[in-house]
Amino acid sequence: MKIVSVVGARPNFMKIAPLLRAIKKHNTHHAPQPTIEHLLVHTGQHYDYEMSQVFFQDLKIPEPDFYLNIGSGTHAQQTGKVMIEFEKVLFQEKPDLVLVVGDVNSTIAAALTAVKVHIPAAHIEAGLRSFDRTMPEEINRIVTDIVSDYLFTPSPDADENLKREGIAKEKIFLVGDVMVDSLLHNKARASESDILEKLGLTTHHASTITPYTLLTLHRPSNVDSRDNLVKIVNALKEVSQKIPIIFPAHPRTLKKLTEFELLDSPPFASDAVKVIDPTGYIDFLNLEMNATFVMTDSGGIQEETTVLDIPCLTLRNTTERPITVSQGSNILVWNDTQKIIEESLKILDGKGKKGSCPGLWDGRTAERIVQIVISRQEI
Ligand code: UD1
Ligand code: UDP
Repeated sequence: MKIVSVVGARPNFMKIAPLLRAIKKHNTHHAPQPTIEHLLVHTGQHYDYEMSQVFFQDLKIPEPDFYLNIGSGTHAQQTGKVMIEFEKVLFQEKPDLVLVVGDVNSTIAAALTAVKVHIPAAHIEAGLRSFDRTMPEEINRIVTDIVSDYLFTPSPDADENLKREGIAKEKIFLVGDVMVDSLLHNKARASESDILEKLGLTTHHASTITPYTLLTLHRPSNVDSRDNLVKIVNALKEVSQKIPIIFPAHPRTLKKLTEFELLDSPPFASDAVKVIDPTGYIDFLNLEMNATFVMTDSGGIQEETTVLDIPCLTLRNTTERPITVSQGSNILVWNDTQKIIEESLKILDGKGKKGSCPGLWDGRTAERIVQIVISRQEI
């Protein structure tokens, strides 16, 4: 059986790494089932060292077999370029299945290209919905799900969404969260990272860590509008008076902060907010594990903080991952300056939200996916 997997942007790499491990494990112990021939395609949607290559090193992902060199552009440019280049790979390699993960432009483009040439597509992290169609990811999720043949879901809410949209239940497989596989696999290594020492938050032999909060921001709705970004920045001014903020800044956000001339004034031009380059995965996990709390508009970080049971303030008004709120440590605070400050103060007062880990977020999701794909192929 020949499988082609597609990655393109930062959050794809931690989702594909466990699948590569599960495929390798299957091939070692496969008899009497068929072996899997696997090829990895990197679209090049993200291309900076800190947004791409570092994850190949940290997650021990082999060099991609194909690099499509798509780069940045408008939605149509990115999606169209991936389709044109990926179709060539499919004509050449003729795989039995295309695996896509998450909700980025490379995801929708690869799934659409595959099914149009009659190659089945499997979507990992299917069924998530924010119900906000102004988010480019929401369109990507809906279209990827409607065209895919296998829908691997992380939580029961995703199954419900797919069934409500009329997708046949035979296509839906509740397998858990593949991103959690990566987290659990790398947690011990992450605890050895020296990132806190590098940031001056601890010393080599010290058992104490200076309390800090970890911030990430990159949603267009938060960072592309000066007004919305200023609402968040105003909250950061207050919060950073109480606790230092570590801010690995996404390239989109750094560009916008520069363009809006916000970087040279408080809170950024002080030690209270440390703006750093995006970090590798191992360092970032360490920063999450040791943070007093996390502020983010990321999708995946809402899940990681739920597994680590670190309070998370999500700087959005919706989430496609509602289980992180109903069961996990996540609270939606949007760009509401007062709410961000209030919830931060509550956490600093020892009243942070505690949660529990959703079922099937156990580190074995990728193995379940490989078993399902193989057993269906044998029918
Ligand atoms: C993309 C995904 C988003 C995901 C995020 C993860 C889509 C529609 N969006 O958003 O779902 O949460 O990745 O990080 O697919 N840039 C660089 N270097 C890079 C990559 C990007 O400088 O290596 C800059 C470019 O100016 C680019 C901008 O960031 O125009 C945005 O990149 P893009 O891939 O279009 O979207 P993201 O905001 O990264
Ligand atoms: N991440 C990282 N370094 C950073 C920021 C995030 O390694 O500086 C990791 C994080 O641990 C998670 C993933 O990137 O695994 C989330 O990606 P991102 O927030 O870019 O995308 P989203 O999940 O919102 O689609």
